[in-house]
Amino acid sequence: MTKYDIADIRLAPKGKSRIEWASAQMPVLELVTRRFQKEKPLKGLKLSACLHVTCETANLMIALKAGGADTVLVASNPLSTQDDVAASLVKDYGMAVFAKKGEDNKSYYSHIYAALEQGPHITMDDGADLVSAIHKDPAKYMRNIFAGTEETTTGVIRLRSLEAQHKLLYPIVAVNDAQTKHFFDNRYGTGQSTIDGIIRATNVLLAGKNLVVCGYGWCGRGVAMRARGMGANVTVTEIDPLKSLEAVMDGFRVMPMTGALKYGEIYVTVTGDTSVIRKEHFLKMRDRAIICNSGHFDVEIDVKDLRKMARKVRTMRDCVEEFTLPNRRRIYLLAEGRLVNLSAAEGHPAMVMDMSFANQALSAEWVAEFHDSLDKKVYRVPEAIDKEIARIKLKSMGIAIDVLTKEQVAYLSAWEAGT
Ligand code: ADE
Repeated sequence: MTKYDIADIRLAPKGKSRIEWASAQMPVLELVTRRFQKEKPLKGLKLSACLHVTCETANLMIALKAGGADTVLVASNPLSTQDDVAASLVKDYGMAVFAKKGEDNKSYYSHIYAALEQGPHITMDDGADLVSAIHKDPAKYMRNIFAGTEETTTGVIRLRSLEAQHKLLYPIVAVNDAQTKHFFDNRYGTGQSTIDGIIRATNVLLAGKNLVVCGYGWCGRGVAMRARGMGANVTVTEIDPLKSLEAVMDGFRVMPMTGALKYGEIYVTVTGDTSVIRKEHFLKMRDRAIICNSGHFDVEIDVKDLRKMARKVRTMRDCVEEFTLPNRRRIYLLAEGRLVNLSAAEGHPAMVMDMSFANQALSAEWVAEFHDSLDKKVYRVPEAIDKEIARIKLKSMGIAIDVLTKEQVAYLSAWEAGT
């Protein structure tokens, strides 16, 4: 019998049609699924995945199962689970799922441990919470593990820190670092889904608003670009001189947080670091400022301090809390400071998750085949996989591109030609 802990199995029909709807936007993953069905590259392998439980993720799990893997899926964030999708995965696809939207910390970690008790050969993480739990108790959880994959920037940072300290216990592929992942998912996915989350939570008009993007990595670039597209006046805060320069030349105002506080009406943190909006900032914000986070963990806004400072807290709408400060100004916090795009909206659209999850599936196949020759290191997705995904994606969009002529190939490999 399938093991599971989900909110409500009766939600399955709604989840199933949403999974199918997403599938239509995921042609690369569909091709992978069809090949996996025939070749069964993951046969006999147990795979534990800690990912956002969305309809896009459901299609990845279907691909892995088609490849022969015995899977368990748990949430990688307490607020991102789509309960109807969890229900359908259990009921219609016979998958073990442990995830409930709004679960508390205790339940979140009990689900992580449930995934590890399966005794996986491969781990698939989004934020490295499985890896972190394994490294805290390797005697208990390392039993069968021979490799893993990691979806996101924050997770890869944690892995590289383990690797630098020579503590990484098994090889892990940094899916995030594939070009067909971060160029698209982090930029266009986060850009659109973050704006979607802000709008669904608040229904504010972005045109003419002063919006502050904290962090100008791939995600920050996407949020800034899309906010400008909606007519917002965008200010960027950064700590890296190169990224700051890029933001300036992309046409954004760049300044330290202290300067941005005078203008900001909406703030979005996407830095991957902690305490980006903190105690010293709250009292200097304009009345009715909206603050939210689109970085992986809920550490970018010091929510505990905000709660402590507040004279009054009330819920205004789903995902919107009002904090009245001692200076009588109000701050609106979205989605408890957790990923606003996955908590207040549905995360990145399937069209972009198609490439991210094709990278995941093909990386799982790659480690299944080559794990004997891998060291305890963080690996890049092989370039051949990355390029193939781009090729198939273009083809699925009906877009043909040029090829080099023989003469051009020769020119590129010659050094003699000059002025
Ligand atoms: N991360 C961001 N958006 C996502 C989505 N739609 N599904 C799974 N993981 C995501």
